Amino acid sequence: MATTIDTPAPAGFFEALEEHAFSPGWAKREPQMWGKPRPKYRPMVWRYADALAALSKSVDFVSTEFAERRNLILVNPVPGNIYPTCRHLVAAYQLVMPGETARSHRHSPNALRLVMDASPGIYTLVDGVRVDMAPGDVVLTPQWMWHGHANYSDQPAFWIDFLDVPLVQNLENMYFEHHEDTLQAVESSDPESPLRFHGAALAENVRAQGDVAFGQAQMPTIGLHAICLAAGERQDPVARIDNNIYAVTAGEITVEVAPLGTVTMTRGDVVVVPSWHPFSLAGGAGGGQVLRVTDEPVFTKLGFRDVGLER
Ligand SMILES: [Fe+2]
Repeated sequence: MATTIDTPAPAGFFEALEEHAFSPGWAKREPQMWGKPRPKYRPMVWRYADALAALSKSVDFVSTEFAERRNLILVNPVPGNIYPTCRHLVAAYQLVMPGETARSHRHSPNALRLVMDASPGIYTLVDGVRVDMAPGDVVLTPQWMWHGHANYSDQPAFWIDFLDVPLVQNLENMYFEHHEDTLQAVESSDPESPLRFHGAALAENVRAQGDVAFGQAQMPTIGLHAICLAAGERQDPVARIDNNIYAVTAGEITVEVAPLGTVTMTRGDVVVVPSWHPFSLAGGAGGGQVLRVTDEPVFTKLGFRDVGLER
């Protein structure tokens, strides 16, 4: 006798399937493939001024002991989300007060920080090497490298962290451990470390070239670009397969993306444009520069870069 899905199943059939951890493919609770991408995360802008105000207040009740966690995570505002900024990346504003250190630790996620405000005496310690941090610098801590921070200046230090933690969570490859010393001993100092990209040099190079990619040798999952846009210069609108976070490093930048509309951003402001949201960037009054942090290398390496794209 022919059987169709219109024929009622025998009593108890589905309950028995569940007991054996089966799910009937002809009656999925939700579809598991779809015709074209369905972006889950949404564009969002965060303001540096808001972060500064909140972090500065938090000093009253978040003690030095928790200096390494005195940060504000840029949580994508979709229902149910409590952590990622977009599918594979997370960003956070961080404050380290004068005299504070952030404990040395290491983890499987790759991390980097964009220094916003810092005075001489602030450094990241990477595998025992002191790497000084100045405003505009990008300092990398690739996976499993020991790293801690110290602020021996007389001013608060603010930076923006970017990590591939959501990707690593999805890959079930999370490892984390604290160093046996609170702050690893300084064995040497290397102001020209290959893990440090000087803000001044990036700004100068990008003024000449427009778009400078860097750090790819050290960061396999995260693409970094310094981008310069002159006043009124506008990138062509594009919907990208990859996720992109932009932090303004100088001047004024406008971003045009639905549903936010056209938003003007200044130094320290951050916008996330998750996959498939059409957007364009433009230089605002006087032009501006941004750091682009992207998971594009993941798509490229996995071969998804040009598969079925609708641009
Ligand atoms: Fe870390």
